Amino acid sequence: MPAGVVELRVPRLFDARAWSRVRLRDRAYLENWEPAAPGAWGERNSPSAWLGQWSTLRALARRGATLPFVITLDGRLVGQVTVGNVVRGSLCSAWVGYWVAADAAGGGVATAATALAVDHCFVDAGLHRVEATVRPENAASLAVLGKLGFRQEGLFRRYLDVAGGWRDHLCLALTTEDIPTGLVNRLVAGGKASLV
Ligand SMILES: CC(C)(COP(=O)(O)OP(=O)(O)OC[C@H]1O[C@@H](n2cnc3c(N)ncnc32)[C@H](O)[C@@H]1OP(=O)(O)O)[C@@H](O)C(=O)NCCC(=O)NCCS
Repeated sequence: MPAGVVELRVPRLFDARAWSRVRLRDRAYLENWEPAAPGAWGERNSPSAWLGQWSTLRALARRGATLPFVITLDGRLVGQVTVGNVVRGSLCSAWVGYWVAADAAGGGVATAATALAVDHCFVDAGLHRVEATVRPENAASLAVLGKLGFRQEGLFRRYLDVAGGWRDHLCLALTTEDIPTGLVNRLVAGGKASLV
């Protein structure tokens, strides 16, 4: 069943309460997959913590190092997609990361949001390659990347500090040559999404 209307927009300061409400409620579901960070979950996901997150994302975006988005579903904030470590020159590459609220999961939201972000990277931001790193145990995230045609390129041993340990991560990637007509068009052509 289609989840609803999925859109990306820039993060705003007034997202604090909606962002924090989801992050505090979904701690158990999110924490197992997200990189470790200083401070307790409750502190770094409180409404006041959003100010720091938002201003960091905004500063990185202004430098062209990051493309930050919030995901909305029928207008409601349900997650984030972040394109980070944007490198220009002969690499023209970045990573993409995402999370979606538990009560919005399973309806194709992350797939649609990641497709929108990758198309933006390739069409508007002039990147050539986007990669994602995922724990092999994260079946839902691997399913998202699989539906989008990300290619598995390798395994990074003890790559990232997640949930109390240095975790192996699979590296998956797409380059512009893989999707000449774009990811959103591919989802629509495959009957997995429609344009409104
Ligand atoms: C990973 C995540 C973003 C997926 O969001 P989502 O909106 O549910 O994703 P989609 O609905 O687009 O696709 C999820 C797919 O995974 C599948 N899936 C979900 N849980 C699964 C599981 N335990 N085993 C196998 N497949 C699973 C779903 O069935 C769906 O595939 P389908 O469309 O073929 O049925 C979300 O689960 C999440 O935020 N998890 C916590 C944070 C996280 O893992 N972030 C990514 C770090 S790399």
